[in-house]
Amino acid sequence: MNTITIEDKTFIKYISDSEIDKAIERIATEINEEYKNDIPILIITLNGAIMFAAELLKKLTIQCRITCIRVASYDGTQSSTAKNLIGLVEDLTNQRVIVVDDIVDTGNTYEHIVGMLQEEKVKDVRIATMTFKPEAYKKSLPVHYVGINIPTKFIVGHGLDYNGLGRNLPDIYQLYTE
Ligand code: IMP
Ligand code: MG
Repeated sequence: MNTITIEDKTFIKYISDSEIDKAIERIATEINEEYKNDIPILIITLNGAIMFAAELLKKLTIQCRITCIRVASYDGTQSSTAKNLIGLVEDLTNQRVIVVDDIVDTGNTYEHIVGMLQEEKVKDVRIATMTFKPEAYKKSLPVHYVGINIPTKFIVGHGLDYNGLGRNLPDIYQLYTE
């Protein structure tokens, strides 16, 4: 099926599950090389990053730890200010941290998380994101590991939602506009 409807919106198939898998494979190879002498902690951003994070984790051959945080930043299809719903619990002092996210859009969420991590006195922070909207990105922080660059158009699937729906779709769909 090439189009789907979620509530009031129509979406068209855009990136296949197998294409996402190849992108994750590439990111995993880079992380396995960069962290071969360290034990990083992956901070998985709920809810959107769980599918990507699970797939990435299975491809990591290094030793690593994981924890989860939940930051809300979206209202319908518009990005807004980030706030914590579930915060950090682990002691991250002097740790190498990899933030694992489903998408970096404006970068508000990423900047908010990096701010929190700096207060925890982490050793360094990198981000691994399944998708990235470079034209929407407003921050100067580097975005290290990018699965797939996409245009500034709303997407759902593979963890990403529209009003809480669509996260279970294996492929990614793009908002259909005439
Ligand atoms: P940012 O703070 O603007 O970078 O947005 C990041 C968060 O907004 C992501 O973690 C997603 O939860 C959500 N988001 C941004 N763009 C999309 C999209 O196209 N589809 C679904 N969620 C999105
Ligand atoms: Mg998210």
